[in-house]
Amino acid sequence: MGQIHELRKFVAPEFVFGPGAALLAGQYSANLSIKKALVVTGPHLEALGWPGKVVDSLSNEGVESVVFSGVTPNPRDHEVMLGAEMFLREGCDAIVAVGGGSPMDCAKAIGIVCTNDQHVLEFEGVDNVNHPGPPLICIPSTAGSAADVSQFCIINATQRKVKIAIVSKTMVPDVALIDPALTVTMDEQLTAYTGVDALTHAVEAYVSNASSAVTDLHAIESVQLIHKHLLRAVEDPENMEARTGMMLASTYAGLAFSNAILGAVHAMSHSLGGLLDLPHGQCNAILLDHVVDYNFDAVPEKFRRLGNALGAGIAVDAPLDEVRDATLDAIRQLKKAVNIKDNLCELGMSADDLPLLAQNALADACMLTNPKQPSDSEVMGIYEAAC
Ligand SMILES: [Fe+2]
Repeated sequence: MGQIHELRKFVAPEFVFGPGAALLAGQYSANLSIKKALVVTGPHLEALGWPGKVVDSLSNEGVESVVFSGVTPNPRDHEVMLGAEMFLREGCDAIVAVGGGSPMDCAKAIGIVCTNDQHVLEFEGVDNVNHPGPPLICIPSTAGSAADVSQFCIINATQRKVKIAIVSKTMVPDVALIDPALTVTMDEQLTAYTGVDALTHAVEAYVSNASSAVTDLHAIESVQLIHKHLLRAVEDPENMEARTGMMLASTYAGLAFSNAILGAVHAMSHSLGGLLDLPHGQCNAILLDHVVDYNFDAVPEKFRRLGNALGAGIAVDAPLDEVRDATLDAIRQLKKAVNIKDNLCELGMSADDLPLLAQNALADACMLTNPKQPSDSEVMGIYEAAC
């Protein structure tokens, strides 16, 4: 358990959780005196109809809106700048994001570009945003990224081929409307990748060297919920109990990692996603057990509790070798059960990429809170082990 005697600060947005939350967008916009909202979403979601329902909810309350759907996975710097142009050209005064991590991160970035009149890449790093963006309402459609509750925003710097992290309390949305009904349209693979992304958030927050009693509580409960619900959400996509369990798990993991930050899995995954444009959840899922193996000896007792939250049934007096094996086995069994069997070489990573991948991973803000600091060759070794 993290220290309870130190002075700590925590951030979280106002959030509504449960069926029907998404359709409160209009009411919340009216409460915030919003006149015209930029609705940020992706083309895939537009086809599923949710942005349309949100637009209707806004117009029922007399709030005008215009839709920006030019967001791809791993949102790019130029997409943010285009969205900002549209926001200003259309005279918007707020942003409503509907979608997974990509539209929500793009929406956060559009907001600060508009209020600070700066290029998005100038905000890279921790606490580099002077003025908060306009009011932002986030409606997540995946149970994984938790960008709707976090102070993180990840943008692809296309020229440098890296994903930059913008970390600032100004990135915490004003309102998160978290509605599990939006997640039933995710296919089996997206459910698995985003679910293991949520697991990675919980694991990395729990073993982070910035963890605390408050974040530990959310992280462990998240892992227990994922153990209970992820497989069923993959096998039975319309099962609302499983979908709700996963949405709650994602929210808890988001509250944990937004305040305890992350670790080597995310640092290495951001590096991979920037260079090879690979899906975030897939990169994390492939790397997770390899990083846990590397980190184990830094915080073995924390991994004993994590292993048990994943159903490993480790005895309190079991020797550490047994704890390591059982914890790794629990993670690998879950990955196998939800059909995640890829490796990084199959996805196009080659030995030539390793030095640059390691260099970018070591420079990522998430690496600072990993429970131990790896060397260049150790990071390359973890990438190779995931091949
Ligand atoms: Fe993530």
